[in-house]
Amino acid sequence: MPAIVVVGAQWGDEGKGKATDLLGPDVDYVVKYNGGNNAGHTVVIGEDTYALHLLPSGILTPGVTPVIGNGVVVDLEVLFQEIDALAARGIDTSRLVVSANAHVIPSYNRTIDKVTERFLGKRQIGTTGRGIGPTYADKMTRVGIRVQDLFDPPILRQKVEGALMGKNHLLVKVYNRRAIDPAEIVAELESYVPRLAPMVADTALLLNDALDRGQTVLFEGGQATMLDVDHGTYPFVTSSSACAGGAATGTGVGPTRIDRVAAVLKAYATRVGSGPFVTELDDADGQRLRKAGGEYGVTTGRPRRCGWFDAPVARYATRINGVTDIVLTKLDVLTGWEEIPVCVAYDVDGVRHDQLPVSQSDIHHATPIYERLPGWSQDITGVRAFADLPAAAQRYVEAVQDLAGQRVSVIGVGPARDAIVVRHRLVG
Ligand code: GDP
Ligand code: IMO
Ligand code: MG
Repeated sequence: MPAIVVVGAQWGDEGKGKATDLLGPDVDYVVKYNGGNNAGHTVVIGEDTYALHLLPSGILTPGVTPVIGNGVVVDLEVLFQEIDALAARGIDTSRLVVSANAHVIPSYNRTIDKVTERFLGKRQIGTTGRGIGPTYADKMTRVGIRVQDLFDPPILRQKVEGALMGKNHLLVKVYNRRAIDPAEIVAELESYVPRLAPMVADTALLLNDALDRGQTVLFEGGQATMLDVDHGTYPFVTSSSACAGGAATGTGVGPTRIDRVAAVLKAYATRVGSGPFVTELDDADGQRLRKAGGEYGVTTGRPRRCGWFDAPVARYATRINGVTDIVLTKLDVLTGWEEIPVCVAYDVDGVRHDQLPVSQSDIHHATPIYERLPGWSQDITGVRAFADLPAAAQRYVEAVQDLAGQRVSVIGVGPARDAIVVRHRLVG
């Protein structure tokens, strides 16, 4: 099975890091195709917990080549901090490859991210403040700085000066901040060149050659379907193509070469930041889910908003990503509820919607139509075979499968690496 995408089906933090790590031994390359250090992917190996932001989770598996694709935005300071932190824990990071076409996040875009949010007031997105949006905006308005620009000093100077010409007006006149000296930015970016140079390559060529040789490539999505700039709850989204389609544009591997799309789907729902969330629970049940699931952001530490499973969202994710398999995570978190509500459809002003409404305003006004499934009380964290799950847990999985419209191939029953039930292998 040469190429597989691991994509978030909801609002992020579904457990993509764990799903990627799970496949580690069976893959040759793990490639990030979108986002940057707004992501926080957790991998638990024995007693050790790793929180990865910019680096692909595959970096933790010996023999895997981790790749940062062209669709990623790279904060170089964070990149080297993350590499150093992993190296200090004995992880070999020497195989990391970075696309020459990836854009870098200059420090001014962190500033712009934060001031823009402040000026949005009540309408703020609740971004991670990492400069992600402004850097993708620069890419689209063609004033971005690419990794390859760092190796051409006159071009780098020209591009930074060009980008700052407009931004300095904005910073000084609108946001009341000091102007940024292009020379400072150039010096900062150039300081990374000696360490960066050996990692940079034509990653599209590298990956296509690997596929030609029959090697296996895993595309690790950051963020998720409902945070995708095209398909998510715009404008409450991130600024990249988080959906499976982004794996093609974000790496230079054509869509015909991608064989499987595994959607990571939490057994309930969470969201960080602003935006509509139909099944959100503002009550003790929401707090109970947050506590049981440890639902606090890996990147910003913010408490995640929690709610019940949302079938219109799951169905939408299956469709938009061309999902072939579902990885259903955190089933263990639902242990102990007498009944578990699942949202099967939305009610918008008295009209039932089985599919996600096309109008964003309808999503804002929708109320969930719930069906209640029986719960279970037995601890399932040690279960490794589907037949050994309590009957009600099996039924919950089957219900998710029916509601989402694709088979559940893997079930997460705990944070640990081996806390899974495999019904169908994703690779091999
Ligand atoms: P990602 O951004 O999609 O990689 O997910 P995060 O790492 O931000 O959040 C997922 C959290 O759930 C992490 O703390 C994981 O260790 C944890 N996790 C993943 N799968 C499971 C599971 O099946 N059960 C439990 N209890 N925790 C899980
Ligand atoms: P992983 O990969 C959850 C959210 C932010 C905010 C919106 C825009 O760990 O699933 P940005 O900084 O990207 O401009 O913020 O997107 N967001 C995430 N939420 N998980 C993530 O990543 C996220 N990355 C961004 O909270 O609402
Ligand atoms: Mg996360």
